[in-house]
Amino acid sequence: MSNIIQAQDLILSYKEDEFIIKKCNLEVKQNDFVFITGKSGSGKSTFIKSLYGEIKVRSGNLNVCGFDLSDISNSQLNLLRKHIGVIFQDYKLINEWSVEKNVMLPLIIAGYSSQICKQQASKLLKHVKLLHKSQKFPLELSGGEQQRVAMARALAHNPLLILADEPTGNLDDYSSEVIWNLLKSVRQHIGSTIFVATHRIPSTLGIDYKHYFLDDGVFHEVS
Ligand SMILES: Nc1ncnc2c1ncn2[C@@H]1O[C@H](COP(=O)(O)OP(=O)(O)OP(=O)(O)O)[C@@H](O)[C@H]1O
Ligand SMILES: [Mg+2]
Repeated sequence: MSNIIQAQDLILSYKEDEFIIKKCNLEVKQNDFVFITGKSGSGKSTFIKSLYGEIKVRSGNLNVCGFDLSDISNSQLNLLRKHIGVIFQDYKLINEWSVEKNVMLPLIIAGYSSQICKQQASKLLKHVKLLHKSQKFPLELSGGEQQRVAMARALAHNPLLILADEPTGNLDDYSSEVIWNLLKSVRQHIGSTIFVATHRIPSTLGIDYKHYFLDDGVFHEVS
């Protein structure tokens, strides 16, 4: 099976003289379910940002879905992003758009007809138990509801790679269970690779997963 993510001696930083990720060697294969944990401020979100080209590679190699992120043009980056679904730690919903239209966004970008977009949005909103809120706006929802909209949007275009930054951070046990089940189901039925940053790996996941622990800028493989 091919590698979806491959990092070799990867270093990431926001400032010239301050390395956030000091050493990352990691291999993620298609269909893997991967967790990264580490204390607050350890660089989990920073690493996730590098995977979709939000921050540049300072040094070393990073390959995602066959794209070399240490040297990538804007047009290639747009292509790469079509293969990725991201659930951001701060959701990044469009507040002026309805819940339904937010979920439709990746499909609109991909050029699907409005009928297909609406059908797919309804299906996903049903999965995250929010179909009844599809005509509401994000700011009319609770934090956990917004998080579930963000999840539905990330899955809308059946991405090859799903990056989830604290996807259950704001959710109660029941809603967290809904999210983990959804991610497992997408992995099983669509063959997606799931990459999650979290403080808490669910004890009831019931599948094999890889776990990397991020400590002082260095990745350690736990299992
Ligand atoms: N845009 C930025 N500019 C400069 N420094 C940043 C920026 N974003 C994050 N940092 C710094 O990078 C370090 C890692 O932050 P990051 O958000 O990756 O941590 P995290 O592991 O995701 O934490 P949390 O568990 O709280 O979400 C922190 O010290 C933070 O201050
Ligand atoms: Mg974070």
